[in-house]
Amino acid sequence: MRFLSAKSVPAGAGSPGRGVGEGCDAAARTLLKGLDALGGLKQLDKVTGPLQKAVRALPLGPYRAVLQGRPIGHPLHPVLVQVPIGAWTSAAVLDLLPGGGRHARLLVGMGVVSALPATWAGWVDWAEQPERQLRTGVVHAASNGVAIGLYAGSWVVRGRGRPLLGRVLGFAGLTLASVGGMIGGHLAYRQGVGANKTEPVDHLVEPGWHPVGRAAEFTEGQGVRRMLGEVPLLVVREADGAFRVLVDRCSHMAGPLSQGKVADGCVECPWHGSVFRLADGENVGGPATAPQPTFETRLTDNGVLEVRLPGAV
Ligand code: FES
Repeated sequence: MRFLSAKSVPAGAGSPGRGVGEGCDAAARTLLKGLDALGGLKQLDKVTGPLQKAVRALPLGPYRAVLQGRPIGHPLHPVLVQVPIGAWTSAAVLDLLPGGGRHARLLVGMGVVSALPATWAGWVDWAEQPERQLRTGVVHAASNGVAIGLYAGSWVVRGRGRPLLGRVLGFAGLTLASVGGMIGGHLAYRQGVGANKTEPVDHLVEPGWHPVGRAAEFTEGQGVRRMLGEVPLLVVREADGAFRVLVDRCSHMAGPLSQGKVADGCVECPWHGSVFRLADGENVGGPATAPQPTFETRLTDNGVLEVRLPGAV
């Protein structure tokens, strides 16, 4: 099979609707620029700063971890939003059909009620983000907040015998929820909110054992950073002489664990306080929803510490 190099492919080949395609590309680029620009709107800091403090101070106790999604291993917010989005989209379809009004109202109400836990889950995730994500996130929240208000209004006026106004408010709500959804997608896929930052490690570390230094170089109870190719490692020598080695890039937002506090068999990330157990990398506190990859260790006869990913023989 012969592959064409980029140079050998004539411009526009294979794209009969080139003019249309270029128009779409330009529109997509403009949209993307607009979405990227949200993260640079420093004026929003007047709102995000106090709001972030307020959300962090909420006495949510163990429910904060649940809302953040720790029990399911990834953020809960994108799971919960499926319900209002589904209910409101279905209501819009019914609104376009004759006689669908009564059921549409039910779905509109269901969407409003189910949007509340989804909103809370979103706020607790949002409060642990860096600046750009905070700014983009607050616009995402504002758009969805207005959508919820419009849908609540739609539910009320439908109940008061004004179905046409209810439909108008419903479609306006769907428009705002769609804008909010698009910004949410930008947050997740472009700005990396919620993704496990250690996922690529498996692909970056060669199988087998790798030396990371002489055992004597590591002081008991202190986190030390070492590089294994492109992967930063946190090495901790425990009081019993055991070596614990974790990826030194926090699964939450890639914070350097080696600059965090090591205590009670755990390390605390210096950025947002996620706590990982040294023995197995389990995330036992803070906003991280994914555990930290750990390495198996061994000492060679001449005192060199070697590591390997479990199962990567
Ligand atoms: S980077 Fe956020 S807790 Fe580590």
